[in-house]
Amino acid sequence: MNEKRFLTSSITNHLLCTVLALGSLIPGAWAQTATQVPPAVDQKNTASDPWWKHGVIYEIYPRSFQDTDGDGIGDIKGITSRLDYIKQLGIDAIWISPMYPSPQIDFGYDIADYTAIDPQYGTMADFEHLTAEAKSRNIRVIMDYVPNHTSDQSAWFKESRSSRDNPKRDWYIWHDPKGFTADGKPIPPNNWQSWFGHSAWEWDASTKQYYYHHFYVQQPDLNWRNPEVVKAMMDVLRFWMNKGVNGFRVDAVSRLFEDPNLHDDPIQPGLNAFGDPNIQHKYTDNLPEVHDMLREMRKVIDEYPGNPVLISEADEPNIFELSKMYGKNNDEVQLPMDFQVADVNELNAPKFRQLLDEVENNPAHGQPYFFFGNHDQDRIWDRYSIGVNDPAMKARIARMMAALLLTSRATPQMYYGDEIGMITSTPTRIEDVRDPEGITGWPKQKGRDGERTPMQWDTSKNAGFSTSNTTWLPVASDYKTVNVAVETPDHESMLNWYKRLIELRRINPALYEGNMQMLNPNENVVSYLRKGPAGQPSVLVALNFSDKPQTLKYDFTALGLSKGATKTLETDDPSLNHAPLTKSITLAPYATWIAEAQ
Ligand code: GLC
Ligand code: MG
Repeated sequence: MNEKRFLTSSITNHLLCTVLALGSLIPGAWAQTATQVPPAVDQKNTASDPWWKHGVIYEIYPRSFQDTDGDGIGDIKGITSRLDYIKQLGIDAIWISPMYPSPQIDFGYDIADYTAIDPQYGTMADFEHLTAEAKSRNIRVIMDYVPNHTSDQSAWFKESRSSRDNPKRDWYIWHDPKGFTADGKPIPPNNWQSWFGHSAWEWDASTKQYYYHHFYVQQPDLNWRNPEVVKAMMDVLRFWMNKGVNGFRVDAVSRLFEDPNLHDDPIQPGLNAFGDPNIQHKYTDNLPEVHDMLREMRKVIDEYPGNPVLISEADEPNIFELSKMYGKNNDEVQLPMDFQVADVNELNAPKFRQLLDEVENNPAHGQPYFFFGNHDQDRIWDRYSIGVNDPAMKARIARMMAALLLTSRATPQMYYGDEIGMITSTPTRIEDVRDPEGITGWPKQKGRDGERTPMQWDTSKNAGFSTSNTTWLPVASDYKTVNVAVETPDHESMLNWYKRLIELRRINPALYEGNMQMLNPNENVVSYLRKGPAGQPSVLVALNFSDKPQTLKYDFTALGLSKGATKTLETDDPSLNHAPLTKSITLAPYATWIAEAQ
Protein backbone atom coordinates (compact mmCIF):
# COMPACT_ATOMS: atom_id res chain seq x y z
CA MET A 1 0.00 0.00 0.00
CA ASN A 2 1.14 3.45 -0.85
CA GLU A 3 2.15 5.46 2.22
CA LYS A 4 1.65 8.82 0.56
CA ARG A 5 -2.04 8.81 1.00
CA PHE A 6 -1.63 9.11 4.75
CA LEU A 7 -0.41 12.61 4.12
CA THR A 8 -3.61 13.78 2.50
CA SER A 9 -6.48 15.53 4.20
CA SER A 10 -9.09 13.40 5.86
CA ILE A 11 -11.75 13.73 3.20
CA THR A 12 -9.38 13.12 0.34
CA ASN A 13 -7.94 10.35 2.42
CA HIS A 14 -11.29 8.65 2.69
CA LEU A 15 -11.98 8.91 -1.04
CA LEU A 16 -8.52 7.80 -1.90
CA CYS A 17 -8.83 4.83 0.41
CA THR A 18 -11.98 3.87 -1.37
CA VAL A 19 -10.21 3.97 -4.70
CA LEU A 20 -7.21 2.08 -3.42
CA ALA A 21 -9.46 -0.40 -1.74
CA LEU A 22 -11.19 -1.05 -4.99
CA GLY A 23 -7.93 -1.36 -6.81
CA SER A 24 -5.90 -3.47 -4.47
CA LEU A 25 -7.57 -4.88 -1.46
CA ILE A 26 -11.16 -5.65 -2.09
CA PRO A 27 -11.97 -8.35 -4.55
CA GLY A 28 -15.13 -9.67 -6.10
CA ALA A 29 -18.57 -8.23 -5.82
CA TRP A 30 -17.59 -5.59 -3.35
CA ALA A 31 -15.31 -3.94 -5.84
CA GLN A 32 -18.16 -3.13 -8.17
CA THR A 33 -19.85 -0.43 -6.16
CA ALA A 34 -18.04 2.08 -4.03
CA THR A 35 -21.05 2.50 -1.76
CA GLN A 36 -20.37 -0.81 -0.03
CA VAL A 37 -17.13 0.37 1.48
CA PRO A 38 -17.92 0.76 5.18
CA PRO A 39 -18.50 4.37 6.05
CA ALA A 40 -15.74 6.14 7.87
CA VAL A 41 -16.31 6.00 11.60
CA ASP A 42 -16.64 9.74 11.66
CA GLN A 43 -19.41 9.72 9.10
CA LYS A 44 -21.63 6.99 10.47
CA ASN A 45 -22.65 7.35 14.06
CA THR A 46 -26.07 6.25 15.16
CA ALA A 47 -27.39 5.14 18.52
CA SER A 48 -27.57 1.55 17.32
CA ASP A 49 -24.22 1.66 15.52
CA PRO A 50 -22.16 4.26 17.36
CA TRP A 51 -18.65 5.35 16.41
CA TRP A 52 -17.06 3.63 19.40
CA LYS A 53 -17.94 0.19 18.05
CA HIS A 54 -15.61 0.71 15.11
CA GLY A 55 -13.17 3.43 16.06
CA VAL A 56 -9.59 3.00 17.20
CA ILE A 57 -8.81 4.76 20.49
CA TYR A 58 -5.30 6.00 21.24
CA GLU A 59 -4.09 6.77 24.75
CA ILE A 60 -1.89 9.83 25.15
CA TYR A 61 0.14 10.28 28.30
CA PRO A 62 0.42 14.07 28.11
CA ARG A 63 3.68 14.40 30.08
CA SER A 64 5.43 12.30 27.51
CA PHE A 65 3.92 13.04 24.13
CA GLN A 66 5.29 16.37 22.94
CA ASP A 67 6.83 19.28 24.79
CA THR A 68 6.48 22.69 23.14
CA ASP A 69 7.65 25.11 25.85
CA GLY A 70 10.99 23.46 26.49
CA ASP A 71 10.51 22.43 30.12
CA GLY A 72 11.04 18.73 29.46
CA ILE A 73 7.38 17.90 30.12
CA GLY A 74 4.79 17.34 27.41
CA ASP A 75 1.92 19.79 27.03
CA ILE A 76 -1.44 20.40 25.38
CA LYS A 77 -0.01 22.45 22.53
CA GLY A 78 2.25 19.49 21.87
CA ILE A 79 -0.72 17.18 21.47
CA THR A 80 -2.40 19.67 19.13
CA SER A 81 0.76 19.90 17.05
CA ARG A 82 0.70 16.14 16.52
CA LEU A 83 -2.94 15.73 15.53
CA ASP A 84 -2.02 15.28 11.88
CA TYR A 85 0.22 12.39 12.82
CA ILE A 86 -2.60 10.86 14.87
CA LYS A 87 -5.00 11.30 11.98
CA GLN A 88 -2.60 9.74 9.49
CA LEU A 89 -2.20 6.79 11.80
CA GLY A 90 -5.95 6.24 11.46
CA ILE A 91 -7.04 7.09 14.99
CA ASP A 92 -10.66 8.02 15.71
CA ALA A 93 -10.41 9.12 19.33
CA ILE A 94 -7.72 10.10 21.79
CA TRP A 95 -7.98 9.38 25.49
CA ILE A 96 -5.75 11.81 27.34
CA SER A 97 -4.48 10.88 30.81
CA PRO A 98 -5.23 13.58 33.43
CA MET A 99 -4.15 17.15 32.71
CA TYR A 100 -5.93 18.77 35.65
CA PRO A 101 -4.15 20.77 38.35
CA SER A 102 -2.29 18.25 40.45
CA PRO A 103 0.69 18.02 42.78
CA GLN A 104 1.72 15.18 40.42
CA ILE A 105 2.34 12.62 43.13
CA ASP A 106 0.62 10.06 40.90
CA PHE A 107 1.36 12.15 37.78
CA GLY A 108 -2.09 13.63 37.46
CA TYR A 109 -4.18 10.86 39.02
CA ASP A 110 -4.12 12.97 42.17
CA ILE A 111 -6.41 15.80 41.11
CA ALA A 112 -6.59 19.08 43.02
CA ASP A 113 -9.23 20.70 40.80
CA TYR A 114 -11.42 18.73 38.42
CA THR A 115 -12.53 21.64 36.27
CA ALA A 116 -9.27 23.33 35.37
CA ILE A 117 -6.07 22.64 33.44
CA ASP A 118 -2.70 22.27 35.14
CA PRO A 119 -0.52 25.24 34.07
CA GLN A 120 2.36 22.88 33.35
CA TYR A 121 0.26 21.47 30.51
CA GLY A 122 -1.17 24.80 29.35
CA THR A 123 -4.38 26.78 29.70
CA MET A 124 -8.09 26.17 29.24
CA ALA A 125 -7.78 28.10 25.97
CA ASP A 126 -5.12 25.61 24.83
CA PHE A 127 -7.48 22.79 25.71
CA GLU A 128 -10.36 24.39 23.81
CA HIS A 129 -8.08 24.86 20.83
CA LEU A 130 -7.07 21.20 21.03
CA THR A 131 -10.67 19.98 21.02
CA ALA A 132 -11.56 22.28 18.12
CA GLU A 133 -8.57 21.11 16.09
CA ALA A 134 -9.33 17.49 16.93
CA LYS A 135 -12.94 17.97 15.92
CA SER A 136 -11.97 19.48 12.58
CA ARG A 137 -10.09 16.24 11.90
CA ASN A 138 -12.93 14.06 13.21
CA ILE A 139 -10.85 12.92 16.13
CA ARG A 140 -12.86 12.58 19.31
CA VAL A 141 -11.45 13.55 22.69
CA ILE A 142 -11.95 11.36 25.75
CA MET A 143 -11.02 12.71 29.15
CA ASP A 144 -9.74 10.78 32.12
CA TYR A 145 -12.24 10.96 34.98
CA VAL A 146 -10.85 10.02 38.38
CA PRO A 147 -13.83 9.61 40.72
CA ASN A 148 -12.41 7.43 43.47
CA HIS A 149 -10.06 9.95 45.05
CA THR A 150 -8.83 13.50 44.90
CA SER A 151 -5.45 14.93 45.76
CA ASP A 152 -4.91 15.77 49.42
CA GLN A 153 -4.26 19.28 48.06
CA SER A 154 -7.76 19.63 46.66
CA ALA A 155 -9.84 22.42 48.23
CA TRP A 156 -12.44 19.78 49.09
CA PHE A 157 -10.02 17.72 51.12
CA LYS A 158 -8.39 20.73 52.75
CA GLU A 159 -11.81 21.71 54.05
CA SER A 160 -12.66 18.17 55.01
CA ARG A 161 -9.56 17.73 57.11
CA SER A 162 -9.78 21.18 58.69
CA SER A 163 -12.18 20.06 61.44
CA ARG A 164 -14.54 17.26 62.37
CA ASP A 165 -17.55 19.49 61.92
CA ASN A 166 -16.58 21.01 58.59
CA PRO A 167 -19.46 20.66 56.10
CA LYS A 168 -17.14 18.70 53.81
CA ARG A 169 -15.93 16.35 56.55
CA ASP A 170 -18.17 13.59 55.24
CA TRP A 171 -16.99 14.05 51.65
CA TYR A 172 -14.13 11.68 52.51
CA ILE A 173 -13.91 8.50 54.56
CA TRP A 174 -12.95 9.35 58.13
CA HIS A 175 -12.89 6.89 61.00
CA ASP A 176 -11.80 6.73 64.59
CA PRO A 177 -8.85 4.54 65.45
CA LYS A 178 -9.59 1.02 66.57
CA GLY A 179 -7.81 1.92 69.79
CA PHE A 180 -4.39 2.97 71.00
CA THR A 181 -1.25 1.00 71.75
CA ALA A 182 0.16 0.99 75.28
CA ASP A 183 2.45 3.85 74.32
CA GLY A 184 -0.45 5.88 72.94
CA LYS A 185 -0.09 5.23 69.19
CA PRO A 186 -3.35 5.03 67.24
CA ILE A 187 -4.33 1.70 65.67
CA PRO A 188 -5.93 1.84 62.19
CA PRO A 189 -9.62 0.95 61.97
CA ASN A 190 -8.90 -2.32 60.16
CA ASN A 191 -6.41 -4.18 57.93
CA TRP A 192 -7.27 -2.56 54.61
CA GLN A 193 -4.24 -2.03 52.40
CA SER A 194 -3.31 0.54 49.83
CA TRP A 195 -2.79 -0.65 46.25
CA PHE A 196 0.59 1.02 46.43
CA GLY A 197 1.67 -0.66 49.65
CA HIS A 198 1.03 -0.57 53.40
CA SER A 199 -2.04 0.51 55.36
CA ALA A 200 -4.82 2.29 53.48
CA TRP A 201 -5.47 4.43 56.57
CA GLU A 202 -3.62 7.66 57.26
CA TRP A 203 -3.71 9.28 60.69
CA ASP A 204 -4.63 12.94 60.83
CA ALA A 205 -3.02 14.18 64.03
CA SER A 206 -4.96 17.42 64.24
CA THR A 207 -8.48 15.98 64.04
CA LYS A 208 -7.46 12.62 65.54
CA GLN A 209 -9.10 10.38 62.96
CA TYR A 210 -7.92 8.25 60.08
CA TYR A 211 -8.80 8.86 56.43
CA TYR A 212 -8.95 6.11 53.85
CA HIS A 213 -6.85 6.08 50.67
CA HIS A 214 -7.02 3.13 48.29
CA PHE A 215 -3.99 4.53 46.45
CA TYR A 216 -1.22 6.84 47.69
CA VAL A 217 -1.48 8.64 51.03
CA GLN A 218 -1.90 11.84 49.00
CA GLN A 219 -5.01 10.39 47.28
CA PRO A 220 -7.82 10.35 49.87
CA ASP A 221 -10.91 8.43 48.73
CA LEU A 222 -14.10 10.39 48.18
CA ASN A 223 -17.16 9.19 50.04
CA TRP A 224 -19.58 8.18 47.29
CA ARG A 225 -22.27 7.44 49.89
CA ASN A 226 -22.62 11.19 50.33
CA PRO A 227 -25.13 12.66 47.80
CA GLU A 228 -23.24 15.96 47.74
CA VAL A 229 -20.17 14.14 46.44
CA VAL A 230 -22.26 12.40 43.80
CA LYS A 231 -23.70 15.71 42.67
CA ALA A 232 -20.33 17.46 42.58
CA MET A 233 -18.78 14.65 40.58
CA MET A 234 -21.67 14.48 38.10
CA ASP A 235 -21.20 18.20 37.56
CA VAL A 236 -17.58 17.49 36.67
CA LEU A 237 -18.79 15.24 33.84
CA ARG A 238 -21.12 17.98 32.63
CA PHE A 239 -18.37 20.57 32.75
CA TRP A 240 -16.21 18.63 30.28
CA MET A 241 -19.12 17.47 28.13
CA ASN A 242 -20.02 21.13 27.75
CA LYS A 243 -16.47 21.72 26.50
CA GLY A 244 -17.17 19.29 23.68
CA VAL A 245 -15.47 16.10 24.80
CA ASN A 246 -16.92 12.79 23.66
CA GLY A 247 -16.71 10.72 26.79
CA PHE A 248 -14.57 9.54 29.67
CA ARG A 249 -12.25 6.81 30.71
CA VAL A 250 -13.37 6.24 34.30
CA ASP A 251 -10.36 5.57 36.50
CA ALA A 252 -10.30 2.80 39.11
CA VAL A 253 -14.07 2.80 39.25
CA SER A 254 -14.48 -0.53 41.03
CA ARG A 255 -12.89 1.10 44.11
CA LEU A 256 -15.65 3.69 44.63
CA PHE A 257 -17.22 2.00 47.64
CA GLU A 258 -15.94 0.31 50.76
CA ASP A 259 -17.75 -1.78 53.33
CA PRO A 260 -19.39 0.66 55.80
CA ASN A 261 -19.00 -1.97 58.53
CA LEU A 262 -15.25 -1.99 58.10
CA HIS A 263 -14.79 -5.77 57.89
CA ASP A 264 -11.17 -6.84 57.59
CA ASP A 265 -10.15 -7.97 54.11
CA PRO A 266 -9.16 -11.66 53.94
CA ILE A 267 -5.43 -12.27 54.24
CA GLN A 268 -3.85 -14.69 51.79
CA PRO A 269 -0.58 -16.62 51.97
CA GLY A 270 2.71 -14.86 51.24
CA LEU A 271 3.93 -11.29 51.04
CA ASN A 272 3.55 -8.79 48.20
CA ALA A 273 6.27 -6.64 46.58
CA PHE A 274 5.85 -4.04 49.33
CA GLY A 275 6.50 -6.62 52.05
CA ASP A 276 2.86 -6.63 53.25
CA PRO A 277 0.75 -9.78 53.55
CA ASN A 278 -1.14 -10.58 50.36
CA ILE A 279 -4.72 -9.48 50.73
CA GLN A 280 -7.97 -9.98 48.87
CA HIS A 281 -9.72 -6.63 48.39
CA LYS A 282 -13.07 -8.17 49.23
CA TYR A 283 -14.49 -5.23 51.17
CA THR A 284 -12.80 -2.43 49.23
CA ASP A 285 -13.29 -3.36 45.59
CA ASN A 286 -16.16 -4.17 43.26
CA LEU A 287 -18.99 -3.58 45.74
CA PRO A 288 -22.44 -3.75 44.11
CA GLU A 289 -23.07 -0.03 44.77
CA VAL A 290 -20.51 0.76 42.06
CA HIS A 291 -23.14 -0.10 39.46
CA ASP A 292 -25.59 2.48 40.81
CA MET A 293 -22.99 5.14 40.24
CA LEU A 294 -22.09 3.89 36.77
CA ARG A 295 -25.76 4.27 35.87
CA GLU A 296 -25.72 7.83 37.19
CA MET A 297 -22.63 8.65 35.12
CA ARG A 298 -24.18 7.10 32.04
CA LYS A 299 -27.36 9.14 32.49
CA VAL A 300 -25.29 12.29 32.53
CA ILE A 301 -23.34 11.60 29.36
CA ASP A 302 -26.53 10.46 27.64
CA GLU A 303 -27.84 14.00 28.10
CA TYR A 304 -25.45 14.92 25.28
CA PRO A 305 -25.65 14.19 21.55
CA GLY A 306 -23.10 12.33 19.45
CA ASN A 307 -23.11 9.00 21.30
CA PRO A 308 -20.48 9.82 23.91
CA VAL A 309 -18.81 6.86 25.56
CA LEU A 310 -17.84 5.64 29.02
CA ILE A 311 -14.82 3.39 29.28
CA SER A 312 -14.27 1.76 32.65
CA GLU A 313 -10.98 0.94 34.22
CA ALA A 314 -11.88 -1.97 36.45
CA ASP A 315 -9.88 -5.10 36.90
CA GLU A 316 -12.80 -7.51 36.92
CA PRO A 317 -12.05 -11.02 38.16
CA ASN A 318 -14.07 -12.96 35.57
CA ILE A 319 -16.37 -12.64 32.59
CA PHE A 320 -19.49 -12.39 34.75
CA GLU A 321 -18.19 -9.42 36.69
CA LEU A 322 -16.86 -7.87 33.48
CA SER A 323 -20.27 -8.32 31.88
CA LYS A 324 -21.97 -6.53 34.76
CA MET A 325 -20.07 -3.39 33.78
CA TYR A 326 -22.32 -3.04 30.72
CA GLY A 327 -25.34 -2.81 33.03
CA LYS A 328 -28.44 -4.98 33.22
CA ASN A 329 -30.09 -2.86 30.57
CA ASN A 330 -26.91 -1.80 28.86
CA ASP A 331 -27.20 1.34 30.90
CA GLU A 332 -23.72 1.49 32.45
CA VAL A 333 -20.42 1.61 30.56
CA GLN A 334 -20.26 0.82 26.86
CA LEU A 335 -16.59 -0.17 26.85
CA PRO A 336 -15.24 -1.95 29.94
CA MET A 337 -11.48 -2.38 29.66
CA ASP A 338 -10.87 -6.11 29.47
CA PHE A 339 -8.21 -6.85 32.07
CA GLN A 340 -8.92 -10.55 31.76
CA VAL A 341 -7.36 -10.45 28.31
CA ALA A 342 -4.84 -7.70 29.06
CA ASP A 343 -3.44 -9.49 32.08
CA VAL A 344 -2.44 -12.65 30.26
CA ASN A 345 1.16 -11.59 30.27
CA GLU A 346 2.35 -14.50 28.16
CA LEU A 347 1.75 -16.06 24.78
CA ASN A 348 -0.62 -18.68 26.06
CA ALA A 349 -2.78 -19.65 23.06
CA PRO A 350 -5.37 -21.75 24.94
CA LYS A 351 -5.84 -19.00 27.51
CA PHE A 352 -6.33 -16.33 24.84
CA ARG A 353 -8.66 -18.61 22.87
CA GLN A 354 -10.81 -19.14 25.95
CA LEU A 355 -10.91 -15.48 27.03
CA LEU A 356 -11.56 -14.12 23.54
CA ASP A 357 -14.39 -16.58 23.12
CA GLU A 358 -15.86 -15.70 26.52
CA VAL A 359 -15.94 -11.99 25.91
CA GLU A 360 -17.19 -12.38 22.35
CA ASN A 361 -20.17 -14.26 23.82
CA ASN A 362 -20.54 -12.15 26.95
CA PRO A 363 -24.00 -12.45 28.54
CA ALA A 364 -24.65 -8.70 28.21
CA HIS A 365 -23.93 -8.77 24.45
CA GLY A 366 -21.70 -5.79 25.12
CA GLN A 367 -18.97 -4.52 22.85
CA PRO A 368 -15.59 -5.99 23.93
CA TYR A 369 -12.75 -3.53 24.52
CA PHE A 370 -9.14 -4.65 24.34
CA PHE A 371 -5.84 -3.02 25.20
CA PHE A 372 -2.41 -4.59 25.45
CA GLY A 373 -0.51 -1.56 26.62
CA ASN A 374 -1.16 1.44 28.80
CA HIS A 375 0.59 3.72 31.28
CA ASP A 376 0.44 1.08 34.04
CA GLN A 377 1.86 -1.94 32.21
CA ASP A 378 5.08 -2.96 30.54
CA ARG A 379 4.93 -2.22 26.85
CA ILE A 380 3.73 -4.79 24.33
CA TRP A 381 7.26 -5.08 23.00
CA ASP A 382 8.54 -6.64 26.24
CA ARG A 383 5.50 -8.11 27.91
CA TYR A 384 4.84 -10.94 25.49
CA SER A 385 8.45 -11.79 24.70
CA ILE A 386 9.92 -12.65 28.08
CA GLY A 387 12.80 -15.04 27.44
CA VAL A 388 12.96 -14.20 23.73
CA ASN A 389 16.23 -12.46 22.86
CA ASP A 390 16.24 -12.27 19.07
CA PRO A 391 15.03 -8.75 18.17
CA ALA A 392 13.48 -10.05 14.94
CA MET A 393 11.35 -12.47 16.96
CA LYS A 394 10.46 -9.79 19.49
CA ALA A 395 9.31 -7.59 16.61
CA ARG A 396 7.18 -10.41 15.23
CA ILE A 397 5.57 -10.91 18.61
CA ALA A 398 4.79 -7.22 18.89
CA ARG A 399 3.31 -7.27 15.39
CA MET A 400 1.26 -10.31 16.21
CA MET A 401 -0.23 -8.64 19.28
CA ALA A 402 -0.98 -5.55 17.20
CA ALA A 403 -2.74 -7.79 14.70
CA LEU A 404 -4.80 -9.38 17.46
CA LEU A 405 -5.71 -5.98 18.83
CA LEU A 406 -6.69 -4.56 15.45
CA THR A 407 -8.45 -7.51 13.82
CA SER A 408 -10.61 -8.76 16.67
CA ARG A 409 -14.15 -7.46 17.03
CA ALA A 410 -13.25 -5.63 20.23
CA THR A 411 -12.82 -1.89 20.05
CA PRO A 412 -9.04 -1.46 20.18
CA GLN A 413 -7.22 0.86 22.52
CA MET A 414 -3.62 1.62 21.62
CA TYR A 415 -0.97 3.26 23.78
CA TYR A 416 1.22 6.03 22.31
CA GLY A 417 4.53 4.72 21.02
CA ASP A 418 3.48 1.10 20.71
CA GLU A 419 2.95 1.79 17.02
CA ILE A 420 6.66 2.47 16.55
CA GLY A 421 7.76 -0.41 18.78
CA MET A 422 8.83 1.53 21.86
CA ILE A 423 10.35 -0.64 24.56
CA THR A 424 9.90 -0.58 28.34
CA SER A 425 12.84 1.40 29.77
CA THR A 426 12.75 0.44 33.42
CA PRO A 427 15.05 2.53 35.66
CA THR A 428 18.14 0.68 36.81
CA ARG A 429 18.86 2.81 39.91
CA ILE A 430 16.40 3.75 42.61
CA GLU A 431 17.55 7.38 42.48
CA ASP A 432 16.22 7.62 38.91
CA VAL A 433 12.71 6.39 39.80
CA ARG A 434 9.92 8.98 39.52
CA ASP A 435 6.85 6.82 40.18
CA PRO A 436 6.41 6.54 43.97
CA GLU A 437 5.21 2.98 43.54
CA GLY A 438 8.71 2.13 42.32
CA ILE A 439 10.32 3.87 45.28
CA THR A 440 8.19 2.00 47.85
CA GLY A 441 8.43 -1.28 45.97
CA TRP A 442 12.11 -1.17 44.90
CA PRO A 443 13.63 -3.51 43.82
CA LYS A 444 10.78 -5.98 43.46
CA GLN A 445 8.32 -3.47 42.05
CA LYS A 446 10.20 -0.85 40.04
CA GLY A 447 7.17 1.26 39.22
CA ARG A 448 5.72 2.43 35.93
CA ASP A 449 8.32 4.87 34.60
CA GLY A 450 9.49 2.32 32.02
CA GLU A 451 6.33 2.55 29.94
CA ARG A 452 6.03 6.33 30.26
CA THR A 453 9.18 7.54 28.53
CA PRO A 454 8.93 10.33 25.92
CA MET A 455 7.49 9.65 22.50
CA GLN A 456 10.18 9.15 19.88
CA TRP A 457 9.52 11.41 16.91
CA ASP A 458 12.84 11.68 15.11
CA THR A 459 16.62 11.43 15.44
CA SER A 460 17.13 14.95 16.82
CA LYS A 461 17.83 15.89 20.46
CA ASN A 462 15.50 14.06 22.87
CA ALA A 463 13.95 12.26 19.90
CA GLY A 464 12.19 15.51 18.97
CA PHE A 465 10.16 15.36 22.19
CA SER A 466 11.68 18.42 23.86
CA THR A 467 14.40 21.00 23.40
CA SER A 468 15.18 20.92 27.13
CA ASN A 469 18.49 19.58 28.37
CA THR A 470 16.67 17.26 30.73
CA THR A 471 13.34 15.56 30.23
CA TRP A 472 11.10 14.41 33.10
CA LEU A 473 11.93 10.81 32.22
CA PRO A 474 14.88 9.96 30.01
CA VAL A 475 14.28 9.27 26.32
CA ALA A 476 14.81 5.57 25.57
CA SER A 477 18.26 4.78 24.27
CA ASP A 478 17.03 3.24 21.00
CA TYR A 479 15.47 6.45 19.71
CA LYS A 480 17.86 6.94 16.78
CA THR A 481 16.41 3.89 15.06
CA VAL A 482 12.98 3.61 16.67
CA ASN A 483 11.12 6.79 15.78
CA VAL A 484 8.36 8.13 13.57
CA ALA A 485 10.62 9.88 11.06
CA VAL A 486 12.78 6.84 10.35
CA GLU A 487 9.84 4.44 10.22
CA THR A 488 7.50 6.47 8.04
CA PRO A 489 9.21 5.80 4.68
CA ASP A 490 10.03 2.17 5.53
CA HIS A 491 7.28 -0.13 4.28
CA GLU A 492 8.39 -2.89 6.64
CA SER A 493 8.44 -0.74 9.78
CA MET A 494 6.27 -1.34 12.82
CA LEU A 495 4.60 2.00 12.15
CA ASN A 496 3.49 0.99 8.68
CA TRP A 497 2.36 -2.40 9.97
CA TYR A 498 0.05 -0.58 12.39
CA LYS A 499 -1.13 1.84 9.70
CA ARG A 500 -1.97 -0.96 7.29
CA LEU A 501 -3.84 -2.93 9.96
CA ILE A 502 -5.83 0.11 11.08
CA GLU A 503 -6.64 0.85 7.46
CA LEU A 504 -7.72 -2.73 6.83
CA ARG A 505 -9.98 -2.61 9.85
CA ARG A 506 -11.56 0.52 8.46
CA ILE A 507 -12.17 -0.56 4.88
CA ASN A 508 -12.78 -4.29 5.11
CA PRO A 509 -16.45 -5.02 5.89
CA ALA A 510 -15.73 -8.20 7.86
CA LEU A 511 -13.12 -6.51 10.01
CA TYR A 512 -15.27 -3.44 10.34
CA GLU A 513 -18.38 -5.15 11.62
CA GLY A 514 -18.24 -8.92 11.30
CA ASN A 515 -18.85 -11.28 14.19
CA MET A 516 -15.91 -13.18 15.53
CA GLN A 517 -15.73 -16.94 15.77
CA MET A 518 -12.80 -18.62 17.49
CA LEU A 519 -11.25 -21.50 15.55
CA ASN A 520 -8.73 -24.09 16.55
CA PRO A 521 -6.63 -25.15 13.56
CA ASN A 522 -3.64 -25.90 15.79
CA GLU A 523 -3.39 -25.62 19.57
CA ASN A 524 -0.40 -23.24 19.45
CA VAL A 525 -2.18 -20.85 17.14
CA VAL A 526 -4.79 -18.25 17.99
CA SER A 527 -7.15 -18.10 15.05
CA TYR A 528 -10.56 -16.67 14.34
CA LEU A 529 -12.95 -15.85 11.57
CA ARG A 530 -14.48 -12.42 11.21
CA LYS A 531 -17.63 -13.08 9.28
CA GLY A 532 -18.31 -10.87 6.31
CA PRO A 533 -21.73 -9.23 6.20
CA ALA A 534 -24.14 -10.65 3.60
CA GLY A 535 -22.46 -11.11 0.26
CA GLN A 536 -19.05 -9.96 1.51
CA PRO A 537 -15.95 -12.10 2.07
CA SER A 538 -14.95 -13.08 5.59
CA VAL A 539 -11.52 -12.62 7.10
CA LEU A 540 -9.44 -15.37 8.64
CA VAL A 541 -6.77 -14.45 11.17
CA ALA A 542 -4.05 -16.83 12.37
CA LEU A 543 -1.38 -15.92 14.91
CA ASN A 544 1.39 -18.36 15.73
CA PHE A 545 1.94 -18.00 19.47
CA SER A 546 4.89 -20.40 19.43
CA ASP A 547 8.58 -20.32 18.55
CA LYS A 548 8.16 -23.18 16.05
CA PRO A 549 6.52 -23.32 12.64
CA GLN A 550 2.93 -24.49 12.92
CA THR A 551 0.72 -26.07 10.31
CA LEU A 552 -2.90 -24.99 10.16
CA LYS A 553 -5.78 -27.16 9.09
CA TYR A 554 -9.22 -25.67 8.66
CA ASP A 555 -12.46 -27.42 7.85
CA PHE A 556 -13.64 -24.69 5.49
CA THR A 557 -16.79 -26.55 4.50
CA ALA A 558 -17.90 -26.73 8.12
CA LEU A 559 -17.36 -22.98 8.32
CA GLY A 560 -19.57 -22.44 5.28
CA LEU A 561 -16.64 -21.29 3.17
CA SER A 562 -16.71 -23.05 -0.17
CA LYS A 563 -13.57 -21.46 -1.59
CA GLY A 564 -11.49 -21.38 1.58
CA ALA A 565 -8.88 -18.71 2.11
CA THR A 566 -8.68 -16.88 -1.20
CA LYS A 567 -6.15 -14.12 -0.68
CA THR A 568 -3.58 -12.97 1.84
CA LEU A 569 -4.45 -9.48 3.05
CA GLU A 570 -1.52 -8.99 5.41
CA THR A 571 1.29 -11.11 6.80
CA ASP A 572 4.83 -10.77 8.09
CA ASP A 573 5.70 -14.22 6.76
CA PRO A 574 6.79 -13.60 3.14
CA SER A 575 6.24 -17.25 2.21
CA LEU A 576 2.52 -16.75 2.72
CA ASN A 577 2.10 -13.92 0.28
CA HIS A 578 1.56 -16.30 -2.60
CA ALA A 579 0.85 -19.56 -0.81
CA PRO A 580 -1.71 -21.95 -2.26
CA LEU A 581 -4.32 -20.81 0.15
CA THR A 582 -6.80 -23.61 -0.09
CA LYS A 583 -4.34 -26.27 1.10
CA SER A 584 -2.85 -26.41 4.56
CA ILE A 585 -0.65 -23.50 5.55
CA THR A 586 2.50 -23.42 7.64
CA LEU A 587 3.02 -20.32 9.74
CA ALA A 588 6.55 -19.29 10.71
CA PRO A 589 7.32 -18.80 14.44
CA TYR A 590 5.29 -15.90 15.87
CA ALA A 591 3.99 -15.03 12.41
CA THR A 592 0.71 -13.31 11.59
CA TRP A 593 -1.52 -14.25 8.69
CA ILE A 594 -4.66 -12.34 7.75
CA ALA A 595 -6.53 -13.68 4.76
CA GLU A 596 -9.75 -13.18 2.93
CA ALA A 597 -11.99 -16.25 3.07
CA GLN A 598 -15.10 -17.07 1.08
C1 GLC B 1 -5.50 3.93 37.70
C2 GLC B 1 -4.49 4.63 36.84
C3 GLC B 1 -3.17 4.61 37.54
C4 GLC B 1 -3.33 5.35 38.85
C5 GLC B 1 -4.47 4.76 39.68
C6 GLC B 1 -4.86 5.67 40.79
O1 GLC B 1 -5.19 2.60 37.88
O2 GLC B 1 -4.43 4.03 35.58
O3 GLC B 1 -2.15 5.18 36.78
O4 GLC B 1 -2.14 5.27 39.58
O5 GLC B 1 -5.64 4.59 38.90
O6 GLC B 1 -5.52 6.80 40.29
MG1 MG C 1 -12.86 4.28 47.08
